[in-house]
Amino acid sequence: MNPFYYARPGLTEALVRDLTGGNLFSDAANGLFLAAPRRTGKSTFLRNELEPALAHTGRVVVYVDLWSDRNRDPGALIAEAIGKELGKHLGIVAKTAKAAGVEHVGLGTWLKVDPAKIGKTDGLTLAEAVRALRETSGKAVALIIDEAQHALTSSQGESAMTALKSARDQLNTPDVANLLLIMSGSDRDKLLRLLNTNAAPFFGSAISMMPPLGEDFIHHIAEMISRTYPQLAPVDVAQLWEAFQRFAHRPQPFVRALGQILNPIHPPERGFERHVLDMADLQRADEERAMESAYLALRPIEQAVIWRMLEQGDRFRPYDADALTFYREKTGEKISAQKAQNAIEALRMQTPSLIWKSAKGEYALDDAGMKKWFKNRSDEGIWPPQSPESGAA
Ligand SMILES: Nc1ncnc2c1ncn2[C@@H]1O[C@H](COP(=O)(O)OP(=O)(O)OP(=O)(O)O)[C@@H](O)[C@H]1O
Ligand SMILES: [Mg+2]
Repeated sequence: MNPFYYARPGLTEALVRDLTGGNLFSDAANGLFLAAPRRTGKSTFLRNELEPALAHTGRVVVYVDLWSDRNRDPGALIAEAIGKELGKHLGIVAKTAKAAGVEHVGLGTWLKVDPAKIGKTDGLTLAEAVRALRETSGKAVALIIDEAQHALTSSQGESAMTALKSARDQLNTPDVANLLLIMSGSDRDKLLRLLNTNAAPFFGSAISMMPPLGEDFIHHIAEMISRTYPQLAPVDVAQLWEAFQRFAHRPQPFVRALGQILNPIHPPERGFERHVLDMADLQRADEERAMESAYLALRPIEQAVIWRMLEQGDRFRPYDADALTFYREKTGEKISAQKAQNAIEALRMQTPSLIWKSAKGEYALDDAGMKKWFKNRSDEGIWPPQSPESGAA
């Protein structure tokens, strides 16, 4: 367990209230979509706090992280997670039926189900599986899908989302939400693709930003520091809070920096907060340098494609006339649609992948953090990055 772990019961309570109808003006019972940037604690929160809290309301909770295995189809991961939970309940039903000597009234038909075949041609559909889980457990179901935008990268994943939407519509009545859907994502723009067009599975729902850890987390850390190193009290919370923000609200590098500075071998001194700030700046500079060298390592056409995507955001169309003109301007060469397509494929196939592609053929930057980098550089008038050998012209 992480000794710096900071629980957020207030957030948990508010979300559970929204999900279970305690908030008249919340639409969460129709699906809760939460976005937060990378490494800010989404999965930890969903698993350690939201999942047990929902279980506490008498629901059976299924959690699946679509990034848990990038080599597996996201649709299969969803089916497997539901199947695993269903398997447990079928086991209980089977035992009860056996003890009673007859097939358990009403539930007996589910006993023939093979939970490993969910979503396959000879198995239950996803919607049927959710119904089976509802009936065999005797409880309403809550399904938490972490990194849900990843479902859109395969057609099986996309159909799983549509199936879940239809399961929700079939199972829920205005009075009872038998299926709660909670989806999180580390890229708001990609998550938005699940709900922003007429054809999107959850058209009409809205995304909420999941709040990052706040100043109260820093107070908690400051207290721990004062307790361990009384000579450092009072800790300058304002400076630590500033540092945490510069670490983009990511607990891991922040705590790591503290660990390096508050080191029992070299007794820490007053004013250590300043060093934490410096380390945040160093880390940011390192990350920017890494993005810069990744960008500079690309071929000119690949750079032009990334530039176009950064500039256009969700308006990006890879091969329209304006895009082709843009590529020509930036590379000084005539670029055909075929050539642009080859560049996009190369960017998508490289590891780590720079481009994300949905099953429908829409493209986005894989790393949402690049947008901020682009914006900062553009605002400072230092875009595009120049390779050192090209000189400071
Ligand atoms: N409430 C918390 N208090 C302290 N540390 C935390 C808290 N939540 C998360 N962390 C730490 O932050 C790091 C990132 O957490 P987590 O993996 O949950 O984030 P994430 O947003 O799901 O990341 P990713 O974008 O990689 O999926 C982990 O090292 C975790 O231990
Ligand atoms: Mg995560």
